[in-house]
Amino acid sequence: MTGIKPTLLSGLILISYACHAEIPVVAGDIWPDSDGLHINCHGGCVTKASDGIYYWYGEHRGTDTPQEGVACYTSTDLKNWHNRGIVMPVSDTPGSIVERGSTVERPKVIYNASTGKYVMWFHHELKGRGYEAAQVAVATADNPLGPFVPLKSSRVNAGKLPLNMIRSKTAPTYDNRTEWWTPEWYALIREGMFTYRDLAGGQMSRDMTLFVDDDSTAYHIYSSEDNLTLHIAELDSTFTSHSGRYIRIFPGGHNEAPAIFRHEGRYWMITSGCTGWAPNEARLMWADSMMGEWHQLPNPCRGEGSETTFGAQGTYILRDGDDITFMADIWNPESLPDSRYLWLPVKFDEKGIPYIYKN
Ligand code: DGJ
Repeated sequence: MTGIKPTLLSGLILISYACHAEIPVVAGDIWPDSDGLHINCHGGCVTKASDGIYYWYGEHRGTDTPQEGVACYTSTDLKNWHNRGIVMPVSDTPGSIVERGSTVERPKVIYNASTGKYVMWFHHELKGRGYEAAQVAVATADNPLGPFVPLKSSRVNAGKLPLNMIRSKTAPTYDNRTEWWTPEWYALIREGMFTYRDLAGGQMSRDMTLFVDDDSTAYHIYSSEDNLTLHIAELDSTFTSHSGRYIRIFPGGHNEAPAIFRHEGRYWMITSGCTGWAPNEARLMWADSMMGEWHQLPNPCRGEGSETTFGAQGTYILRDGDDITFMADIWNPESLPDSRYLWLPVKFDEKGIPYIYKN
């Protein structure tokens, strides 16, 4: 627990208690909840609400059964978690926005102070269509324990071009004849062959995260364009729609699992490569402005197993006070509910570059 912090608000000096718990280091063990059952909350995030309670939202996985929706666990110390059930349930009503049989992945929740709503976004695949729909859904609740009510599910920013794409005189038409990963193909990707392909119906959105900046602007960061290119899209002031402003970063970079934080004014993002449920080497990116130029650095992981992110794939970066923790999933595709968790502190080297160490 930190001390008492004075806060200047509307000319009054208020005293507020800024409490935070010590974030545990977790490295793949069974993590029992208060009922003694392994926590079933994957691909998720931890949000601290104004009541000081931590809410962990994530994918609730069954073995052979369709997903029930998004689970929530609560804690006051980040170590002991209480199962609060499904807070964004799928629906049995045919034609509903998130119908049973849909795939619900990587839910993230942010709070909008001006509307008083908790806003959840998640990767949403339509029933019976594998991963081809590549949509994102949004749901809101008045209470962090839900129920979160889905508002819509769609692709992103239909009809809108990104702010930062190199514009050719003629938009490249989609072709699947140019061999992938060749210089000609990379050039087409950079010029937006997939962006134009999906312009009318909206851009694909699969793995995703959310980030609220210090100025209360929120962003949706997602793998787009057949997982080839990341997009950063600004949300509107309600956090329930896109504003229409977005950028593409690392075209053809093949990134998934974006997780982001800000430290001393700089934005840092950790992603994975795209190898399904199998772990791969993490990537580190930085920028001085969310919608500005992004740069890539080598793998931020250090220690044995660093070349496969220690067997895990990132999902979120949890900040609490000065502590920053990389939250990741050790997927078990044979039994997704038994996937484990990797929580490791993010540290900074002598040049101020973040790294994640596991011994
Ligand atoms: C990798 C993604 O990061 C996961 O969220 C999930 O979509 C798997 N692919 C499915 O293979």
